[in-house]
Amino acid sequence: MGSWTLDDIPWDRFERAKLDPEIVRIVKAAALVEHNGAAYAHHLCRIFADDPAFQETARRWGEEEIQHGAALARWARLADPEFDFDRAFARFQAGFHVDFDSARSRRGSRAGEMVARCVVEIGTSAYYTALREGTAEPVLQEICRHIAADELRHYRLFYKNLDRCLRTEPIGRLARLRVALGRVAESEDDELAYAYYAANERELLYDRRRYSRAYASRAFRLYRPHHVERGVAMLLKAVGLTPNGRLGLLASRLAWWAIRYRAARLGNMAA
Ligand SMILES: [Fe+2]
Ligand SMILES: [Fe+2]
Repeated sequence: MGSWTLDDIPWDRFERAKLDPEIVRIVKAAALVEHNGAAYAHHLCRIFADDPAFQETARRWGEEEIQHGAALARWARLADPEFDFDRAFARFQAGFHVDFDSARSRRGSRAGEMVARCVVEIGTSAYYTALREGTAEPVLQEICRHIAADELRHYRLFYKNLDRCLRTEPIGRLARLRVALGRVAESEDDELAYAYYAANERELLYDRRRYSRAYASRAFRLYRPHHVERGVAMLLKAVGLTPNGRLGLLASRLAWWAIRYRAARLGNMAA
């Protein structure tokens, strides 16, 4: 397990007056995705079937992700006592399918799988940092502080394993970049959209575009340039490019522009 438990969270400092209902909605969705960590750990264990040491690491990682889900779910229940986490999680699992039992990585290789995992941890570490800075509620701030630190450690863990995989199955920078950008683009796929739907909607039928926008419009507004700069530097490092210098600067400017453009479009659609 990680370095903290739910008992380390100062639940009694919860301040209802500082709640933002839009943040409560995205925290509920995040709780479902995080709680699904065991499924991803299982998939990693299948991909690294002949590597018991890494399987052990993957299982511990999965437990930490589940704990993230448990902490966020408990906070969401404080914020909204009517939130039924078990019911929402059952709906999420029933509606969101990935073949977690496959022993083949969708990224074409073990190294590719590690690049994709690095991208996810970059995304979550930026997200929980942005959420901590974007909320005024002290208990959520504290939860996000713990989770963001874990996500950064997870990135390092997968980066280290990527390095190891590259020694036995080298894949070029271009192939790594392709996997990384592909995984970034997948953030608008079903997982977050369906989690948002399962956590927040009880009557309407699922519509990917609608719920993808609903989630993204609330999440994107939390990001600031320093979150993007740091994320881009971590991503460049994972694909084997130099994060400092002109390339890093150009890439983070492009990424910040893309986020602002997307946030503005989502804002207009919601208006
Ligand atoms: Fe997490
Ligand atoms: Fe993580």
